[in-house]
Amino acid sequence: LAALTAAAVLLMVGLGPSAHAQGPSPATTAVTDNQVADGRLLYLQNCASCHGTGAQGSGIAPPLTNVGAAAFDFYLRTGRMPLAQLGTPPWQQSHRMSDDQIAALVSYGATLGQGPAIPSVVAGAGDLQRGWDLYTNNCSACHGPGGAGGELAAGVAAPPLDRADELAIAEAMLIGPGQMPSFADLPQQDVNSITRYVLYLRQRSNPGGVPPSDTGPVAEGFIALLLGLGAMLLATRWVTQLRR
Ligand code: HEC
Ligand code: HEC
Repeated sequence: LAALTAAAVLLMVGLGPSAHAQGPSPATTAVTDNQVADGRLLYLQNCASCHGTGAQGSGIAPPLTNVGAAAFDFYLRTGRMPLAQLGTPPWQQSHRMSDDQIAALVSYGATLGQGPAIPSVVAGAGDLQRGWDLYTNNCSACHGPGGAGGELAAGVAAPPLDRADELAIAEAMLIGPGQMPSFADLPQQDVNSITRYVLYLRQRSNPGGVPPSDTGPVAEGFIALLLGLGAMLLATRWVTQLRR
């Protein structure tokens, strides 16, 4: 009888959330009951201690009930979760779980409410010029003009953009992780264009010579000041010598 009950419970756990599983997660083509059940188990083992057994959140971690497959996929594939140490910025660690584990957790995450599904993005279809324009106006203030990242207020930093893959860039814009605002309203074509530009930043050459480490106006301004002031000093010296 005990064995039968156990089997029935397992079956219920396996079948319970499956009804929702197909809906919010179109990107994962074959979401099986097993995957959701596996995901739930992995969740209880790796995540529940902080996010609560019902994903309701706790004093130390936010609820995961309406973050959707997109947030699960982003946080797991970029190695942000499971967080090893409270207090460290999630993006500074990379304990990447296996692809199978991530797929299972994402299917389980999709059953936890109404969050956004994994977005689609085709960087190749984007327009580089438009991407530059949008990046400069929306992203470079935090991530730097060359994507090198930078310090924000109150000890928060924006990470460099040289690691996230195509999909993770689109996911970041959709969900707005941590201190980053969400850009969920951007049309698909703009998402493609920004993504294309972020990827382009990694392989562009520096025909002008050594890059001033892409740290933006301060480093560039310093070099300009050094060269400009130097030239002016020389010119002043030359002019005063002419008078004598
Ligand atoms: C040590 C505690 C801890 C563990 C373990 C942990 N998390 Fe987190 N998680 C956090 C904290 C703290 C945040 C908020 C971090 C932030 O946004 O900067 C977070 C944020 C998240 C977010 C984003 C939520 C949002 O509102 O957008 C997701 C998704 C997530 N975690 C999934 C997971 C998954 C899946 C696991 C297990 C594989 C896991 N976490 C394990 C502490 C933890
Ligand atoms: C207000 C500052 C701010 C703005 C504006 C901003 N970001 Fe972010 N971004 C952040 C912060 C902070 C994080 C790290 C979040 C975390 O994980 O806690 C981040 C993370 C990311 C990541 C993940 C990087 C990785 O390797 O894990 C990507 C990709 C990204 N941002 C792209 C963008 C793009 C594209 C734009 C413009 C459309 C943008 N961001 C605008 C602050 C910003």
